[in-house]
Amino acid sequence: MFLTSNPQLNKNGELHHLLSIEGLPGEILLQILDTAESFVGVTQREVKKVPLLRGKAIFNLFFEPSTRTRTTFEIAAKRLSADVINLAINVSSQSKGESVLDTVANLAAMQADMFIVRHSQSGAPHLIARHVGEDIHVVNAGDGRHSHPTQGLLDMFTIRHYKHDFHQLKVAIVGDILHSRVARSQIHALTTLGVPEVRVIGPKTLLPTNVDNMGVHVYHDMAKGLKDVDVVMMLRLQNERMQGSFLPSPQEFFKFYGLTAEKLALAKPDAIVLHPGPMNRGVEIDSTVADGNQSVILPQVTFGIAIRMAVMSILAGN
Ligand code: CP
Repeated sequence: MFLTSNPQLNKNGELHHLLSIEGLPGEILLQILDTAESFVGVTQREVKKVPLLRGKAIFNLFFEPSTRTRTTFEIAAKRLSADVINLAINVSSQSKGESVLDTVANLAAMQADMFIVRHSQSGAPHLIARHVGEDIHVVNAGDGRHSHPTQGLLDMFTIRHYKHDFHQLKVAIVGDILHSRVARSQIHALTTLGVPEVRVIGPKTLLPTNVDNMGVHVYHDMAKGLKDVDVVMMLRLQNERMQGSFLPSPQEFFKFYGLTAEKLALAKPDAIVLHPGPMNRGVEIDSTVADGNQSVILPQVTFGIAIRMAVMSILAGN
């Protein structure tokens, strides 16, 4: 059998699929971050291409909408010289009742080398990884509220770029932690990479019941939670994943948990602000902060290309 008990690793302990940050050793996270550093240089050259994945067929399977992740995976694959196929799910045979596994089996029969999968159901990329052949790699591009590993990795890349040493940092993650796959990936990455203080800030209704078991400090008061932090990671209210009423109103949420310049002033003066996007201005973040000089929201997007190049090139080499 090719795979070990960790479905992401091969028998040599190397990354074969990227499904979740949970369970990955720190060395593999650092290997991805370090590899991405080398690709930042490529993305700044006039000819932004290297031949590492020439002849490989990479299929983007986005069963849920995306702007940043789908586009940067496509750019990253093209910069690695791969052939990229974006399956248009809306006009695919999914609409005739074909199952996800049958769709994937047919694409595999077209000699796919890698599937990049986003799905509203948690676990969909794991299911696909269990059913593809040993030569095919699967990357989770966000599944339900479970995991978004490349977002977590690009966030770590951004933090390391501006703050250099994970071991000295206080980091706050603010907002709808309950429904956020990004928050889960961020928490696993931050704790694995040695950040000594990870805080989560939000109303009780938007925090998972056992979130403190993940090694984080829980705050319901934004003023206390932001005090002296180095990094503020804002999250969107995931309305599409909410069943029932979790909040009185978006206006009420903004009053208590929206990041304004006044609230940001409680963090360290050189604190940076991240947001995975899409942003809802005036709900979780004020425009003065989103567009202000402490915001690194657009550099996050740019670094996403290098991170996704790193992930795909590492997988293709294993
Ligand atoms: N951060 C993120 O996943 O954004 P998209 O939904 O636009 O891909």
